[in-house]
Amino acid sequence: MANGLKSAPIGVFDSGIGGLSVMAELLQTVPGEDIIYFGDTARVPYGTKSDRAIISFSREITRFLIRQGAKVIIIACNSASAAALPLLREEFDLPVFGVIEPGADAAARRTKNRRIGIIGTTATIHSRAYQRVLEKIAPDTQPFSRACPLFVPLVEEGMVDHPITWQTAEHYLLPVREAEVDTLILGCTHYPLLRAVIQDTMGAEVTLVDSARETARFVAAQLSERNLLNPSLSEGYRKYFLSDQSPNFQRVGSLFLDGFVNNLTVVDVESDTFRG
Ligand code: DGL
Repeated sequence: MANGLKSAPIGVFDSGIGGLSVMAELLQTVPGEDIIYFGDTARVPYGTKSDRAIISFSREITRFLIRQGAKVIIIACNSASAAALPLLREEFDLPVFGVIEPGADAAARRTKNRRIGIIGTTATIHSRAYQRVLEKIAPDTQPFSRACPLFVPLVEEGMVDHPITWQTAEHYLLPVREAEVDTLILGCTHYPLLRAVIQDTMGAEVTLVDSARETARFVAAQLSERNLLNPSLSEGYRKYFLSDQSPNFQRVGSLFLDGFVNNLTVVDVESDTFRG
């Protein structure tokens, strides 16, 4: 294969800021790749929206990333992966990866008592997308799921170690703990930032599976298998596109990426008009 496609960028998208948790893992796992990130800050959150809306946004963004030259697409959002992954795979002829399969696969490999907890947004939990993958790859496992919708705004308010967050975690996670799961999937982009609270509330013996980290590993393996790894030895470029100017993006983004987010452009996703 010519280097052309190999050196094309990876397209990553999320409803907003949360996909930066996947981005942070990609920067560690495939540092030589060029990456274009799209955050749909104009329409965030997806976790409270219908499948129909999420599918239509995801389709639009995928088209945008393809126009920017992406060689593969990563849906770095659990709610969008749950609603739109099968359709995007059907409609576009480049590889499309989501966060659900890698997360479910890691949980199935790590659980010993075969009882797996899944937490995520309302859209992700209602979709049963994690359960469907588990039924396929590990039918002997028993999933217990719980939507934790308040976790996203708490992270976005920077309240990762606030008493209200500890109380909220206790409220949401009590039934999951009572189900005696030994493995818990963090099925939302924001939850890795609540790892300490969630681990403490669940108990040290419960293994937390970070879908973002598993996705980065999975994508690295897929790029190598498909002969799509960028051969460049230098660090790739990163470009960030947003559908709306978001005052939160820099502030919360730095929590995810551990540093300032540079190279940010606001764009009209339908017309590709750059808005400064
Ligand atoms: N990125 C979303 C997810 O992983 C969380 C934020 C939202 O609801 O849009 O499900």
